[in-house]
Amino acid sequence: MADIIDGKRVADNICKKLKEKLKHESSTPTLAVILANNNSASKIYVSAKEKKSSQIGIKTCIYRFDSSITQGNLIKLIHELNADDSVNGILVQLPLYKHLNQNEILNIIDPKKDVDGFHPINTGRLCSNLNPYAIPCTPKGILKLLNEYGIKLQGKNVVVVGRSNIVGKPLALLLTNHDATVTLAHSKTKDLKKITKNADILISATGHPKLITADMVKKGAVVIDVGITRQLDKKLVGDVDFEKVKNQASLITPVPGGVGPMTIACLMENTYELFKLQN
Ligand code: GUN
Repeated sequence: MADIIDGKRVADNICKKLKEKLKHESSTPTLAVILANNNSASKIYVSAKEKKSSQIGIKTCIYRFDSSITQGNLIKLIHELNADDSVNGILVQLPLYKHLNQNEILNIIDPKKDVDGFHPINTGRLCSNLNPYAIPCTPKGILKLLNEYGIKLQGKNVVVVGRSNIVGKPLALLLTNHDATVTLAHSKTKDLKKITKNADILISATGHPKLITADMVKKGAVVIDVGITRQLDKKLVGDVDFEKVKNQASLITPVPGGVGPMTIACLMENTYELFKLQN
């Protein structure tokens, strides 16, 4: 049976070290978070980011908007945050209300304050393996988890399922930069099982519960589950049929307690790194 990858333990360690470093700084890093949607999951994520920041000594300013927010007002706010030297990081929680133009908003964030690494300068730098100011938090967290558990990437067959701009695409680039042989599969991929069966490391980031079943996993593979779906009974589940896949894998992340805490820890780390870049 697979060993469990304890993302919470690794994330707690990262946050503990950050908290220690922050004690020696003469000023407090500040993260501005914009919540402009009516998505219950986003509200939970933003509260979790706020709580973790306050635990480790990062100041957060949360801007919550109802659906009357206009594109013009949001653009004005981002320009103000870009110009405000006391703000070190800007995070726009996605998705935005449907009437807002997400790309236009992400593209005007100062790349040096872009804690999510979603600005084209940062995605371009990631693509060219040229030190982005920030690497997207979930991909960064997954890389740290693999590293922490001694999983080498060089020459490994890694299959990423899900091609989102937040996880799948930047993750595929990051792993390629670390010498893995990456296949990026998605909802239009034909015969997904044939592809996933070849994975030494299988990473799923789709939000489809039980998409990854035991017959899709090679014996001894490492399985990373990025999916988080809240079921009707309120239980959180991932993309992976955990109970069956754990008999097939050598290492596996649980949901919750796997990738989720790492995303927040990496957001804290990105905020600190941008703060150091600016100070
Ligand atoms: N929505 C879901 N995940 C994320 C994330 O990592 N960053 C932002 N900004 N929005 C998200």
